[in-house]
Parts: sequence; C-alpha cells; structure tokens
Amino acid sequence: MLQLTDCSDAVHALASGSACGKAILLGEHAVVYGQPAIAVPIVDVRAQARVWAGSPGTGPAVYAADLAARFTPESDDQRGTGLVLAAQAAIDAFMGQGPPLIDLEIELRSLVPMARGMGSSAATSAAIVRAIAAHAHLSLDPAVLSRLVYLAEMHYHGNPSGVDNTVVAFERPVWFTRGSAPVFMPVGVSLHLLLADTGVPSRTRDTVAQVRAWRERDAATVDGLTAAIGALVCQAREHLDQGDLAGLGQAMSANHALLRLLGVSTPALDTLVEAASAAGALGAKLCGGGGGGCAVVLCPSGRADAISAALRRAGAQKLYETTIATA
Ligand code: PMV
Repeated sequence: MLQLTDCSDAVHALASGSACGKAILLGEHAVVYGQPAIAVPIVDVRAQARVWAGSPGTGPAVYAADLAARFTPESDDQRGTGLVLAAQAAIDAFMGQGPPLIDLEIELRSLVPMARGMGSSAATSAAIVRAIAAHAHLSLDPAVLSRLVYLAEMHYHGNPSGVDNTVVAFERPVWFTRGSAPVFMPVGVSLHLLLADTGVPSRTRDTVAQVRAWRERDAATVDGLTAAIGALVCQAREHLDQGDLAGLGQAMSANHALLRLLGVSTPALDTLVEAASAAGALGAKLCGGGGGGCAVVLCPSGRADAISAALRRAGAQKLYETTIATA
C-alpha cells in the first residue's frame, strides 16, 4: 500500500502509460461551430502516469508530481477533478477485465505545459487511462481512449469539440470535424514546427465562452469569421496533400489574423507571430484556445535556430521544436 508524496524509484510501479501533447495547425474555435480543424500530435512532449497499489478505501487518487499535489474523489480542487475523473472513467470501463482496479494510486508527471494550448488536459488524462489499461492487461483501442478522455475534457472545457482527445488518443495528424469520424491525414512533406510559449496561462473554457457570448449578440459576424477560418483549413489540406509548405504557412498566418478578429489573440501572441514571420517563418499563429499560451510556427528547413532566437528576443519564455514526419 502506498500513498505517494513523491516518486520513489526504489519501488516498482504496477504499470505505466504515456500520452503526447498536440498543436492545432488551423481551425481552433471555428471547430466548436462545426468547421474542420487540422491538428498534429507533438509526440516528443509527453505526460507519463504510473499506477501503484493505493490505501484501501481511498478510491482512485492522483499524485500530480509537478504540482506537488494529491487529488482524490473528495478533493475540492479544479486542477485535480479532471484527473480523478479520467481515472474513474477508466476504472469503470475496465472493471472486471483483469486485476482489481479499486484504490489505485496514480503518479503523474508531464512535460506538456499546463494551460498553454498544447493539450495538457487531454495528454494527462490519456496517460492516466493508458496506465490503468496497462495495469488491467488490456490493449486499448484508440477510439475507446478518445471517448474516455473526452469525458474528462468536458470537465475542463465545458463543451469541447473533441479535437484534442482525438489527436492525443490516435497520435496521428487528423482532419477533425465535430460529430464526424476523424480522418487521419497523410502529410506529404515533413513539417518543422516551433511552439513558442508566451508564459501566460490561459483557460480554454474562458476564451470559448467569450466567443460564444459574442456569437449570442452578433451571430452574423462570428459565423462569418468561423466560415472564413473553415475555408482556410480546406485550403491548408490541399497544400498539405501537395507538400506545398509555403501555401500551408500562408494559410496559418491568415488563420491567425482571423483569430485576432475573433478576439482570442493577445499582444504577446501577436508579437511572437510577427517576430517569427520577420525571421523567415513560413507561417505562424496562436495555437489552441488563445488568450495566452503558445504560438505555433512553421519553419523552412534549416531556419529553426534563427527563428528560435528571434522568438526568444520577442519574449518567448520557452520553445518546443518538433518535426511531423511524412506519413
Ligand atoms: O486550448 P486547447 O489546447 O485546449 O485547444 C482548444 C481548441 C478550441 O477549438 C478552442 C476548443 C475546442 O473544444 O476545440
């Protein structure tokens, strides 16, 4: 029996699981209203969960090592409720299919930054579900994982489109339209991406609510903007099919301009986007809910270092570099 207050490598965990972060290349916010979005997994930035035998009667508990906080079903803490929910959803789904799943203690660590538009909530939930599935000796269908993570996403985001749980569960570039089966996209050319963190946390729930409130007052304007974003996403898909990086980058930058008009950018994000473009990026835009968080930047081959330096000078607090390989 173990109650975790910190990771102890001297004892072996019963099972473990991990899940990646994500970036939305185009289409955030508009995807909430039925427009398509394109999202990619950031496979080398991950959350990791380990399962231990817990104390009897506690239910599933999650020790978030990065926060030095332990959450149980009784905890009254917004940060932990979604994590415990993900664990409970997995336990309910897998109960009876292996060893007893009651009273598990789950240790969580994540390199996916919280509240930065990189899918931290989906990644941490997915890591927990994968670890519990591994403990139950189940091979987990990504569609089942996606559905379980969506339950936790509802807690964080209110009315999520489903794009985050889909890309994180399948770890493949995805064309996502709310209510339709995801389409996994062949990427015709490698994408060199930088994610530049403003250092400002943002709550997706708040920016989504802000757009919804505007739409209630002025549906014509908001629907016009989301339709224009949807048209860019369609163009970007063609550019991706044809391996046209310049076209893809232009669509991303145009998407940022529309997200600005939608009111979800910030001066810090605009500064990063402008600095990236001035340093030779093919395209740049805010990524995820906005209101803070990260910008995603498409780099021409061999320019990532120069663009990184420009982003640092423009205020980026942290940079993540990744390549989406040709599928
Ligand atoms: O901020 P993130 O990484 O959770 O992305 C949110 C994407 C939105 O389109 C703004 C919301 C949604 O549910 O799709």
